[in-house]
Amino acid sequence: MTTEMNGLLIGCGFFSGNHLHGWADVEGARIAAVCDRDADRARGAAETFGIPAWHQDAAVLGSGAFDFVDICTTMDTHEALIAQAVDAGVPVIVQKPFAPDIETCLRIEAHARAAGVPVMVHENFRFQKIFRRLKEILDSGEIGETTFARLSWRNDIDVYSNQPYLLKTERFMIMDVGIHMLDLARFLMGDAADVTCLNQSVRPGLAGEDAATILLRHDSAATTIVDVSYAAHRHPNPFPQTLGEIEGRDGTVQILEGEILRIHSGGATRDEAIAADTRGWTSAPWTQIQDSVPRTEQHFVDALRSGAEFETSAQSSLQTYALAEAAYRSAASGRLIHIADLMKEVRP
Ligand SMILES: NC(=O)c1ccc[n+]([C@@H]2O[C@H](COP(=O)([O-])OP(=O)(O)OC[C@H]3O[C@@H](n4cnc5c(N)ncnc54)[C@H](O)[C@@H]3O)[C@@H](O)[C@H]2O)c1
Repeated sequence: MTTEMNGLLIGCGFFSGNHLHGWADVEGARIAAVCDRDADRARGAAETFGIPAWHQDAAVLGSGAFDFVDICTTMDTHEALIAQAVDAGVPVIVQKPFAPDIETCLRIEAHARAAGVPVMVHENFRFQKIFRRLKEILDSGEIGETTFARLSWRNDIDVYSNQPYLLKTERFMIMDVGIHMLDLARFLMGDAADVTCLNQSVRPGLAGEDAATILLRHDSAATTIVDVSYAAHRHPNPFPQTLGEIEGRDGTVQILEGEILRIHSGGATRDEAIAADTRGWTSAPWTQIQDSVPRTEQHFVDALRSGAEFETSAQSSLQTYALAEAAYRSAASGRLIHIADLMKEVRP
């Protein structure tokens, strides 16, 4: 039997419960200690999840006790925390968004690469069961070469109660949900070369945008529309489903409400229901998101053990982040942004 890897989880706030439940479902790793600068949160998480130790200072990364760190804090803290882990030689999985801007992402990636410490961004949407199955269908060639995709996340879930910091976040919707969709677009359709975007601030009083419509041109010449909104009123509320379609030269796959893929190919149509797993700790409407968390964590552990590249390595995530950065630049300037030009400008 292989020994379990010992992890430190940093950040015991709103989303961390899903991480900690998730780690308990992961094979080959466990969380040996939690850390939050807020002592009540750290102690509370340790007690709730039966974790043997809790800390307030991430300097514990230097203790030699940890095989990896799971950073579940907001993006403004990622650079300093990842640097501490990298300097201690501790592999990292860090929540999205990677950092507040692309220059910071580049610094983080360069520092980790120079030290040879693996870093993965926790991008859980691509690990949702429905998108693993959709990717299999695309890879099978059933709908032929892909030409168009629409990935749509529109609902009016009250994110502001659980994540009040979002009210004051200037880069809000694209960083909060758009980045998941952009990662999905890369996963399903490949890298993109050009980006245009229009942003909207629908709910009064926000510091940033709560809706965005992004258009990508992929390297393959396919196009993707990513549209995201926290101000779209529908009953029943489709949260947290990503809906849309992918068209290929020989067929189409629709991503429909109820976690259904409708495949049109060879002159016929069939539905595949790809429901997320319900686990002892998951609860509607969050199940689809929650179930993807241990799947993401398992990928991290499996790749760490085998030495394989993470699907969403720091290096690969720079490409995703560049699309988000380009979306903001396009929305601000009204121009189409070429990713190659953007990267030339921001690389040191
Ligand atoms: N992937 C998803 O589906 C998903 C869903 C929700 C949130 N998130 C992401 O998860 C991250 C965390 O979000 P949240 O809502 O849980 O945030 P939160 O503010 O509720 O919790 C963050 C915690 O980190 C602690 N912290 C911050 N800096 C620290 C440091 N240097 N040392 C120790 N503790 C520190 C804070 O005290 C706080 O308790 C965000 O980046 C968010 O975008 C992802």
